[in-house]
Amino acid sequence: MPVNRWFPTLIYESPLQARGNRAFARSLLEDCHKVRAHDRGGQRWCRENYPAGYTSYGTLCNLHQTFSTFMELEKKIRVHVQRFARRLDMNLQGARLKMTDCWVNVMSRHAVHPLHLHPLAVVSGTYYVATPPGCSRIRFEDPRLDKFMGAPPKRSECRPENRQQIFREVEVGKLILFESWLRHEVASNPSAGERVSVSFNYNWI
Ligand code: NI
Repeated sequence: MPVNRWFPTLIYESPLQARGNRAFARSLLEDCHKVRAHDRGGQRWCRENYPAGYTSYGTLCNLHQTFSTFMELEKKIRVHVQRFARRLDMNLQGARLKMTDCWVNVMSRHAVHPLHLHPLAVVSGTYYVATPPGCSRIRFEDPRLDKFMGAPPKRSECRPENRQQIFREVEVGKLILFESWLRHEVASNPSAGERVSVSFNYNWI
């Protein structure tokens, strides 16, 4: 059929590194636990606002500047972000993509991370540190969803590119990058163990 695909939404998925993902994730997991133990303000905030979850987003969101393992993580992520920006044909006009925020997320059973996007950033993403069996996937939503008023729904077996939402599996050592305007969420975590990830923003500076 003489049809082309235009205006695609690109999502980047890759192991963080070719080898040693599990060992690196293990050392990062230890530091995620240290961050949580140290972050009394964040724990207080989460008790009120993030049932069954912990995030350092509001309290310790510059971990890439303060903890050596997170600094190392940033160096590893940077290469992927640059590759993704090239694939997106971004013209940075002499500026560079720089990590501006980096924070820890811990989701125990039933924790929910509702639909959101990442304002004031260009590329955002998540690196998975602990993914117990059966833990929640990440869901992305078609960014044009509000344009579909009156459009018929899609067939349940529709082509991947015509889906209006997608779920991506998460696993230890995996990196997912997306443009920061893309809405995403994590549904209630059904797994008994803690689902741990590190999220971040890159801006052009
Ligand atoms: Ni997010």
